[in-house]
Amino acid sequence: MNRQHKSQLALLEADDTPKRKSPDGVTTSRLIFSAYVGTNEELFPLILELHVPPGSVVADVTYGKGIFWKNVPKDKYFLLATDIEDGVDCRHLPYEDGSVDCVILDPPYMEGLYRRSKAHMAGSGTYAAFRSTYSNGEPTTDGPKYHDAVLDLYFKAGKEAHRVLRKYGVLIVKCQDEVSANVQHLTHVEIITHYQSLGFYAKDLFVLVRPNRPAMSRVKKQEHARKNHSYFLVFVKTDGANPRRKGEHGHPGTMGRDPR
Ligand SMILES: C[S@@+](CC[C@H](N)C(=O)[O-])C[C@H]1O[C@@H](n2cnc3c(N)ncnc32)[C@H](O)[C@@H]1O
Repeated sequence: MNRQHKSQLALLEADDTPKRKSPDGVTTSRLIFSAYVGTNEELFPLILELHVPPGSVVADVTYGKGIFWKNVPKDKYFLLATDIEDGVDCRHLPYEDGSVDCVILDPPYMEGLYRRSKAHMAGSGTYAAFRSTYSNGEPTTDGPKYHDAVLDLYFKAGKEAHRVLRKYGVLIVKCQDEVSANVQHLTHVEIITHYQSLGFYAKDLFVLVRPNRPAMSRVKKQEHARKNHSYFLVFVKTDGANPRRKGEHGHPGTMGRDPR
């Protein structure tokens, strides 16, 4: 954990008591910022801290190796951890309608992980660890191709998350933009636009900048900036209702803080 995150966590732990009350709220240094240099396991607990009250039922539907959860205390949430590796597809979840407080979605984010044959998938040879961390390592045999395959999974999983979430439930989505076939795809914008049409309100956005330099690759002439950032998007299922209204079980988005 780097210095910035250590000091963030220290502030969250140490400064629990409001210093001075005013009609507009409390003066506090307990702020969580929208951009971080660091790793998923450093930023993820801060996003939960801001948007998901302790005791919530949280379905992480692409649990993978559970890296997101490394710094989250085990007893803080009722975690339902599934992955395609255990036979649970995030497009067909085994939960009742409206039964979950929060869904976490982090499917493979780049088209190279959705190829029809293993030989054409990203992450071969010395990059095998990358493939096994970011996907289940299996080829995609049906549905759209290339970048549309990436979006197809995000869109279908978003619809399923909407079904299982209660009203004002929270959906946290990890994604990264990509250049595919030399064309820029702003995946985070495509996801936000589509999820809004499903009835989600885009409540927050975090930019995560990787702390190390991406590996070098052979480039004749660089045409796009090499991506060294990704996103966590936070949605609330409002179905068009006022996003500031408190829900029946408490609005997880405000948690008693200034909802700016
Ligand atoms: C980027 S990794 C997730 C990493 C995870 N967030 C962590 O903290 O370790 C993507 C995961 O999505 C899973 N996956 C791919 N397709 C899926 C699907 N249709 N349903 C559920 N999980 C899927 C892969 O098996 C892989 O574990």
